[in-house]
Amino acid sequence: RKFNVAVVGATGAVGEELFRVLKDYNFPINKLVPLASARSAGSKVEYDGKEITVLELTETCFEENEVEIAFFSAGGSISEKYARYAVEAGAVVIDNTSHFRMEANVPLVVPEVNPEDIASWRETGIIANPNCSTIQMVMSLKPLDELYGIKRVDVSTYQAVSGAGKTGMEELVKQMQAFFAFSLEDSEKNAFAHQIALNVIPQIDVAQANGFTKEEMKMVNETQKIMHKEIAVAATCVRVPVLRSHSESITVTFEDGVEVDVNEVREALERFENVEVIDDLENNAYPMPIISTDTDATYVGRIRRDVYSPNIVHYFNVADQVRVGAATNAVRIGLKWIEMENEI
Ligand code: A2P
Repeated sequence: RKFNVAVVGATGAVGEELFRVLKDYNFPINKLVPLASARSAGSKVEYDGKEITVLELTETCFEENEVEIAFFSAGGSISEKYARYAVEAGAVVIDNTSHFRMEANVPLVVPEVNPEDIASWRETGIIANPNCSTIQMVMSLKPLDELYGIKRVDVSTYQAVSGAGKTGMEELVKQMQAFFAFSLEDSEKNAFAHQIALNVIPQIDVAQANGFTKEEMKMVNETQKIMHKEIAVAATCVRVPVLRSHSESITVTFEDGVEVDVNEVREALERFENVEVIDDLENNAYPMPIISTDTDATYVGRIRRDVYSPNIVHYFNVADQVRVGAATNAVRIGLKWIEMENEI
């Protein structure tokens, strides 16, 4: 059976990628309904080589178009206001924003890690897609937790500008152009608090009372919710002048008494669905954004045991956060939902 599918935020960075991923995964679509603000209503988006007209997001658009599956990626305030109308129209909402993620009765899902949580979707009609940095991290944490039992995770991120949407990407490109025109000082700074070209910014999202940022605390809280475990997490989230794909330097501390065997770690990661290991330092082989971009895998490399503590492992983790961290994860949730609903 095929479904009527809406994409809210159809003209955004994640929305545009969603159309490509829906096609790549052969999502069973009857009718596709691209939705955005009144500003872009009437413009066209491309799906499977065909142009489809963007409609204005309204309270009644879900009912009018008999939407059954609604992907939301137009920002938290839009989800807050409009998700209910999609649910009332009988649709399941797969939400890419942070708005519903930590609500106790909303499942927060990475299909490779906690697919069983999808089953409680009926309580609210909403399934939340985790933060991009969390998704690619738990993709590597899950097999390692099964292998040895994780106690603590310390992570530093190197996050691409596309995490801030199209405006973030445009700002980096414009600043690079300004640099070559010797006018970088005068270029616009809207998407980020500081110049991002030729710089790194150790702040993503707003400050919290405990000295961490909101993005960093998302990595703590969402990891625990997805893994169903009180793993201690400390994150430092950093914006870097990369267009696409987030990188993460991860240190995992296992239970006391564990003796990390790097080969076992490598094999556990290789066996896990949609994780790929690139780990040959002598031949300069490790994951990088230019490898992961436009792919659906989470790449892991630089795997090494701590020099001092046998229960600690370090590694580097890279994924295309617009796909793995957003569009692809959402589409995989949708496919899993279809599979589970059909079994009922
Ligand atoms: P629009 O292009 O009409 O503004 P990004 O994350 O790349 O910045 O994209 C944000 C997405 O959210 C765009 O598709 C944008 O549509 C959409 N959006 C922003 N504000 C609204 C709104 N008030 N109503 C509907 N869609 C919105």
